[in-house]
Amino acid sequence: MYTPEMLASMAKVEASRNKNLATEPRRMTAEEKKALLEAFHPDDKADQFTQLQVGPNAGERVPLELAELLQSTPRVLDADLTRTDLEADVLIIGGGGAGCSAAIEAQNTGASVALVTKLRVGDANTMMAEGGIQAADKPNDSPAIHFLDAYGGGHFAAKKPLLYKLVTQAPEAIAWLNDLGVEFDKAPDGTMITTHGGGTSRKRMHAAKDYSGAEIMRTLRDEVLNRPIQVVDFTAAIELLLDEGGRACGALLMNMETREILVARAKTVILATGGAGRMHYQGFPTSNHYGATADGLVLGYRAGAKLLYADTLQYHPTGAAFPQQIFGALVTEKVRSLGAMLINREGEAFMHPLETRDVSAASIIRECLGRDKGVKTADGQGVWLDTPMIELKHGEGTIARRIPAMLRMFGKYGIDLRKQPILVYPTLHYQNGGLDINPDCQTPAVPGLFVAGEAVGGIHGRNRLMGNSLLDIIVFGRDAGRNAGQMAVTAQAPGSPTLNHVLRYQAQLDGAGIHTGKYSPRLLPTYNAMGKDF
Ligand code: FUM
Repeated sequence: MYTPEMLASMAKVEASRNKNLATEPRRMTAEEKKALLEAFHPDDKADQFTQLQVGPNAGERVPLELAELLQSTPRVLDADLTRTDLEADVLIIGGGGAGCSAAIEAQNTGASVALVTKLRVGDANTMMAEGGIQAADKPNDSPAIHFLDAYGGGHFAAKKPLLYKLVTQAPEAIAWLNDLGVEFDKAPDGTMITTHGGGTSRKRMHAAKDYSGAEIMRTLRDEVLNRPIQVVDFTAAIELLLDEGGRACGALLMNMETREILVARAKTVILATGGAGRMHYQGFPTSNHYGATADGLVLGYRAGAKLLYADTLQYHPTGAAFPQQIFGALVTEKVRSLGAMLINREGEAFMHPLETRDVSAASIIRECLGRDKGVKTADGQGVWLDTPMIELKHGEGTIARRIPAMLRMFGKYGIDLRKQPILVYPTLHYQNGGLDINPDCQTPAVPGLFVAGEAVGGIHGRNRLMGNSLLDIIVFGRDAGRNAGQMAVTAQAPGSPTLNHVLRYQAQLDGAGIHTGKYSPRLLPTYNAMGKDF
């Protein structure tokens, strides 16, 4: 299955392994990073962006694909809003880690809670997360150091109150998950095992081997299902409902099987719809789950909520580039934190393995497209991640013990990563931008509308560090749930639901002469031969 060129390059990697192990490449300077990002990071490709023409961010730059989505025709402009198919104090849209954390805490306030999800509860990017979750809970670390790492890694663009909340509530988030039953990796004395991630100055990555997200999601899902929370699977939100005063008061839903339109009424609404990898920006493959289509951004934007940093995406440096069957699947950063280095076709270690993600991704792209030192395959190219280095550094058995999912994923295709390097290339992984929120998780422009998880913009600035996403879904999910629950049980009930905001938005599109010929939100990706959106 390997081409002769790949085999020849692999031999070079093996021959230079000891030399590479002995001389770790230096970190790049700030000036080198800036020049690298400008030349090779996908966020800097000017022809892949355009300005929005309508809505709260009109005039701002977003990816072409997102502009089309945000400026497409609403699926429904008129509906019977006198009916009530689902009613709760708090309506949560999204069944991943943020939605489930929110549901648990909202229910703790005494509010009645409904959670709707377009696939099944747990079908989410949380489930796909591998490497771990950050928290500064060791004696040599502190939330202040965690803040500095994340603020610098995000190019000093994070909203400081949001980042402050993330890092200061992190130790409590880990304790909460531990108490709920998450099986974190622990030393024999019971202390948590922690490792580095790209851009961390302390070892603060807590993990459950290399399926940390699946373990967290399993635990949260069980907790939600064990409580009196209404969970409605296979039901997508296709529009928010606002009362005459502009307060969120429910959502228009669509049954994914029958396509019946349903009306959900609530006193507060939480958007926890996750990311956008299935938009395949710039044609990149993705590490994301099947439903990651930016639908929450469309709903929030049409309702009047502002987007923050919608022009920045995260391309995970190490997506699988070979074999074709797992093209784009996540190869966790933990592989590099355990000691594997990135090596080009000639067997050269061309960068420090734990630069931040945007810098690492751009460096790999430069190696392949700028320096012609990538390894070509039938489907593209990539660079080597020299996984046998891990056991040379930490001893036999480390790979099976610490990254068993990686061993299994490549093993299925006859690749033993204990003995041979694996080929990687950046894959679309995370939406750095999203809806703007206050520190209480509420959108400033739409009272009663809370947002949590990957649909939020501003927590991480313009680049996120590994392990801060599993953390933000817990910290912001819980807080959104608490605040939405409290508002629902204490504030006056909202008025009758309307779709006035959607009609106004459509009028703006008409006024600007925008007719994309498509409908949004897009609920699932388009992989069918007809190219038709769901
Ligand atoms: O590489 C990883 O395991 C991904 C982690 C993350 O995105 O936080």
